[in-house]
Amino acid sequence: MNAHISASVYTSHVPAIGVALDLGKTDEPYWQPLFAGYEFSKSWFAEHTPDVVFLVYNDHATAFSLEVIPTFAIGTGARFAVADEGWGPRPVPDVVGHPELAAHIAHSVIRQDFDLTIVNQMDVDHGLTVPLSLMCGQPTDWPCPVIPFAVNVVHYPVPSGRRCLALGQAIRRAIESYPDDLNVQIWGTGGMSHQLQGPRAGLINSEFDRAFLDDLIAAPTELAEKPHVDYVREAGSEGIELVMWLIARGAMADLGGGPPPTVRHRFYHVPASNTAVGHLILEN
Ligand code: DHB
Ligand code: FE
Repeated sequence: MNAHISASVYTSHVPAIGVALDLGKTDEPYWQPLFAGYEFSKSWFAEHTPDVVFLVYNDHATAFSLEVIPTFAIGTGARFAVADEGWGPRPVPDVVGHPELAAHIAHSVIRQDFDLTIVNQMDVDHGLTVPLSLMCGQPTDWPCPVIPFAVNVVHYPVPSGRRCLALGQAIRRAIESYPDDLNVQIWGTGGMSHQLQGPRAGLINSEFDRAFLDDLIAAPTELAEKPHVDYVREAGSEGIELVMWLIARGAMADLGGGPPPTVRHRFYHVPASNTAVGHLILEN
């Protein structure tokens, strides 16, 4: 049997969540309601640990900089070190990759006309490690290999929602053509509404976020038509991170003609640092 995608997971990646975990502050009144929303998810993940997580995230000028800005970059290395974002690396394990599956996906997706940058070596920042911490807790080793897939949502031009959804469909075809029986989850991370800069810093739009979650579940093709300017205007300059969720959503079975996914878990909480936190688990 070939590889398959069993589920998709969506979550925000707020760096302060990582700090709260690393400093043992999860029971403090500010953080308790946030971490409570991930209790189900941690036991779900422990019961449904896949063979590989394909983790769509954005780098925050850590592995990349203004010198090189790939739109879509796939981590094909065997290991990815945890980045030092200015306060030393987070005390979490290095990420073990899956070079064989990653190389296969790169090959297949490029042949489906998406230009991926192949990255054999890079450090991974909070965009990748915070979602892992939220879903896996604080293990000494991450429970499975992870293929990092970095999307440029930091420097314009950034990819459209439509392209992200179509890329997800191409990734599903790539995974389903891998000739090993691997159970793969695809994660879409970043968001929800937030703006870290300028006069609107602190912006949060719960109405937008809740509608985004509704549409991501039930109307992803329509949602993918949302123009960038709507994200920026309504969800803040960093709200554009949400386009990455469409890559994971595009990889679900219904966008390849299969049945709609089951919503296993949905959570929304405001605020965590400057950000609205959204979280979904969809099963095929
Ligand atoms: C915050 C959110 C982000 O997405 C990020 O990359 C950095 C900071 C915040 O809310 O503080
Ligand atoms: Fe971010």
